[in-house]
Amino acid sequence: MLGTDGTQKFLEPITWVEKVKNRIGFWYWINRKIVLHASQGNSFIVAYRAKNDSLSSPQSLYEYLVEYTFGFLGFLGVALSSGIGRRRSSEFKAANEAAEKQCLGERKNEMLYVHLLATSPKVQGQGYGGRLLDAIGDLADSQGRATWLISAGPHNVPFYERHGYKTIKDIIVGESDIDWKGGQIILPLMVREPRYVAVSGD
Ligand SMILES: CC(C)(COP(=O)(O)OP(=O)(O)OC[C@H]1O[C@@H](n2cnc3c(N)ncnc32)[C@H](O)[C@@H]1OP(=O)(O)O)[C@@H](O)C(=O)NCCC(=O)NCCS
Repeated sequence: MLGTDGTQKFLEPITWVEKVKNRIGFWYWINRKIVLHASQGNSFIVAYRAKNDSLSSPQSLYEYLVEYTFGFLGFLGVALSSGIGRRRSSEFKAANEAAEKQCLGERKNEMLYVHLLATSPKVQGQGYGGRLLDAIGDLADSQGRATWLISAGPHNVPFYERHGYKTIKDIIVGESDIDWKGGQIILPLMVREPRYVAVSGD
């Protein structure tokens, strides 16, 4: 089986803790974000509406409850993680925030964000991932909005480029962590500008 970024093998089977984390993540995304899937769930995408889109705020008491419960569980997850896990997560967060501020600035609030895209190795290369990505692009176009994402590595850049994304910055992490022996990790920040959608009468 391929690893989480599709480039390396898992050394250990997924633990029950990771299964619970994944289920909580999906419960949150399905209730609060845009989730599309294909091939009976073997390929899926999670995207966030633009922050200044009124639909991105909770619309009901239940959605408020989901939002705050997930926020609390996320805080608990970081607090209970190991020292290395906590350090990596804060390094990753700081590097991302700096890059987002520098490259997107206030514009980030107007943009859709692709949080996660994955296709099971058994159906990769059959066009599912690309079509799901294009569906989010079509939604962004219909709203006249740009979309951004952080690629899991340079290996996925050609795939995203074929779907209209351009790299605007390579975020680099891993350099300051003395426990990390794998060298620097490059995470390209990519943006897709909206395409003009013709409406009748144009
Ligand atoms: C990146 C990923 C989501 C693409 O999903 P997918 O369903 O395979 O996407 P598609 O089939 O639309 O496109 C894959 C591209 O790789 C090419 N490809 C060729 N052989 C392939 C193979 N054996 N496996 C995968 N892709 C292959 C396809 O032809 C296609 O190229 P195209 O864009 O020119 O058509 C998938 O590889 C994946 O889940 N990777 C692991 C997780 C990951 O990296 N997610 C992205 C985080 S940034």
